[in-house]
Amino acid sequence: LRIAVLFGGRSAEHDVSVLSATNVMRALDPARYDAVPIFVTREGQWLLGGYQDGALAKPDSGTEVCLVPGGKGRMLAIPESGAAYELDRIDILFPVLHGLHGEDGAVQGLAQVARVPLAGCGIIGSANALDKDIAKRLFNEAGVPAARSVTILPGAAPTFADLQARLGLPLFIKPARQGSSVGVSKVASEKDYETALAEGFRHDTKLLAEEFIDGREVECSVLEDPQGGLFVSRTGEIVPAESHGFYTYDAKYIDADGAAIKVPAQLPEGVEDEIRTLAAQAFRALGCDGMARADFFVTADRRILVNELNTIPGFTDISMYSKAMAASGISYPEIIDRLVAHGLA
Ligand code: DAL
Ligand code: MG
Repeated sequence: LRIAVLFGGRSAEHDVSVLSATNVMRALDPARYDAVPIFVTREGQWLLGGYQDGALAKPDSGTEVCLVPGGKGRMLAIPESGAAYELDRIDILFPVLHGLHGEDGAVQGLAQVARVPLAGCGIIGSANALDKDIAKRLFNEAGVPAARSVTILPGAAPTFADLQARLGLPLFIKPARQGSSVGVSKVASEKDYETALAEGFRHDTKLLAEEFIDGREVECSVLEDPQGGLFVSRTGEIVPAESHGFYTYDAKYIDADGAAIKVPAQLPEGVEDEIRTLAAQAFRALGCDGMARADFFVTADRRILVNELNTIPGFTDISMYSKAMAASGISYPEIIDRLVAHGLA
């Protein structure tokens, strides 16, 4: 089975994607999968990549590749010099891209236009999950508890006093469409607020102000089977180091001691079951299919709030998706097999 693995990409999570895709490549059994790594540059160009000795090549230039619309997996290679030629047809596309232009429905739409099966979540679920503002509205509508928030558009930011009255302090300012905590700030004063708005708007044209939830961060993995049934894994807890204040980008990927992951999460009686039920409801509320990691907060007074769903969750060494699946007895290669089976169904 020929599987094209897209990695890199245009978003701020480019480097995270490279880490994720490296692990995906490692988990693909060469006896069964003929993997074609495709490097998406920061500018969005698709280049034929390579994979050797456990590392992915990230070429600056080289042979461009494209999927033929309606071609059911036909691909063209366009070398820098010389004539274009046709590559072997791929059977399935697996975007291991995080954030905008990869996890937001765009590439998923391309797969549909090309009429090539897709591993993972489709257009609408991807688009809904990536936009925290849209996701929040859908969670609210479905009765899935989520933190209170206020959407902020350019030139129309509420006053600090207004936000403080509505959400309390501290609060978070986050870009609506970013992952890995890029551009997220914790705000406790009017001065922080100005800085946070400027930082947020560097990353997106729509921001969310969100109430601070003093709770534990608990996540679980959702994987849909080819018949549409949902498998929801055991939960895992993320314990960010005190020094980082919250689960920042650095705590996630830069600082080796930035956070500890505990799988399965040690939770009060009944809480894990509730989280798993809510994860399935949240997945359906956003119109997801295939897979997602569902992130929650659990407070000391036992409130459970969904934070977000990630339709292409991290597959880095520290990432929760595969760890939580492993706690439920599903190995990394098995996850990929199931995703592929789902895509081909
Ligand atoms: N956005 C990162 C990759 C995650 O959610 O795991
Ligand atoms: Mg995310």
